[in-house]
Amino acid sequence: MKYKGLTIGIPKEVLAGERRVAATPETAARFVQEGARVLVQSGAGAGAFFHDEDYTAVGAQITDDVRRIFAEADAILKVKEPRLNPELGLDEIDLFREGQILIAFLHPAAPVNHDRVRRLAERGVTSLTLDLVPRISRAQAMDALTSMSTVAGYKAVISAANRLPKFLPMLGTAVGMIQPAQVLVIGAGVAGLQAVATAKRLGAVVTACDIRPDADEQARSLGAKTIDLGIPSELALGTGGYARALSEDLLEKEREVLKPHAAKADIIILSALVPGQKAPILLTQEMVESMQPGSIIVDISIDQGGNCALTEAGKTIEHQGVLIDGTQNIPGTVPVSATMLFAKNILNFAMHVLQEGGSLNLEDEITAETLVTHQGEILHTGALTAMGITQEGSA
Ligand code: NAI
Repeated sequence: MKYKGLTIGIPKEVLAGERRVAATPETAARFVQEGARVLVQSGAGAGAFFHDEDYTAVGAQITDDVRRIFAEADAILKVKEPRLNPELGLDEIDLFREGQILIAFLHPAAPVNHDRVRRLAERGVTSLTLDLVPRISRAQAMDALTSMSTVAGYKAVISAANRLPKFLPMLGTAVGMIQPAQVLVIGAGVAGLQAVATAKRLGAVVTACDIRPDADEQARSLGAKTIDLGIPSELALGTGGYARALSEDLLEKEREVLKPHAAKADIIILSALVPGQKAPILLTQEMVESMQPGSIIVDISIDQGGNCALTEAGKTIEHQGVLIDGTQNIPGTVPVSATMLFAKNILNFAMHVLQEGGSLNLEDEITAETLVTHQGEILHTGALTAMGITQEGSA
């Protein structure tokens, strides 16, 4: 009964079109077993097909009043960062109390969130962000970013296949053989590898590329052909084996190598990213114009600016017959699977960081790396650097 006397609040997400929720009845039950009172907003799970009765059946409580959740909870679990609640006409940040704990995706280093982080600190909220969970083996089951990239890679291919005016697999028909579609995946990280696996299952011919040799090898093991981009690995790899931002000269070289592959692709999935950096532009307007009309580009990296020069955030546009999809919240369009994964990740994370009675152990590596605001201060180094504030607090 680690959480006896603790109240955990699960508000309904307020972002338009967001259908995920931070707790499923299964994960709510785990908190209840530990003695917590779980207060869920009525309808919070509806987008992922979890009904209020499913939560009450496991001992959670349902309320219509979101203000009550914020007033009574010791810890609030959310999917997205706090933002305007259109029904109340109030920003969720203004509902928080001093000392309250918030766990969600906060993306504190992104400029668009700097003001939110400042206001969370001003209100005295202890906030922890899931996008900074360290990629160490004991934190794997808490890694919601990886889970959501898996969903995004899968759904990017499915939604492209749905709009492609062609078959994906090779088909033998009475009137002759139909050739399979060509899928090009640029960036073979978590999202890219899931895109490779999904496109292979649908029968397409898949080509993938990455600047990390390990990623190329993983793509090959899933059945993709790979492209030698000609980037020396000492220039491609940074600390911990992660990709490094390439110089403009090397990016130009990479685009030259990619040109003929882009021209013959029916679907291009873009998921190349260097952690903490703007996504590199790997597909130029000229390359888009070399593609066949009817082809489709899904730019998964759009939250980091996108890998295609023409992608517009949150929109699908057509350029000379080629669709360029910049959908931003892809996991939200697969709400059941995305919620199952997310809710388990946040459960594992919360169970780790919230000690007996809900206190935090600030010495713990996972807690320290994910703590964004605490006792009125912004603590996260990456966020402080991005905001132009030094550790001493001077701008
Ligand atoms: P990741 O960090 O696991 O993979 C990125 C890959 O890009 C790495 O393998 C890296 O080596 C590679 N890369 C870097 N520079 C490259 C270059 N110049 N050429 C080729 N490859 C290069 O990231 P993950 O988790 O796969 O995510 C990929 C993108 O998808 C990110 O931008 C992420 O934010 C985004 N994403 C978007 C979602 C959405 O709803 N739109 C949901 C989830 C993830």
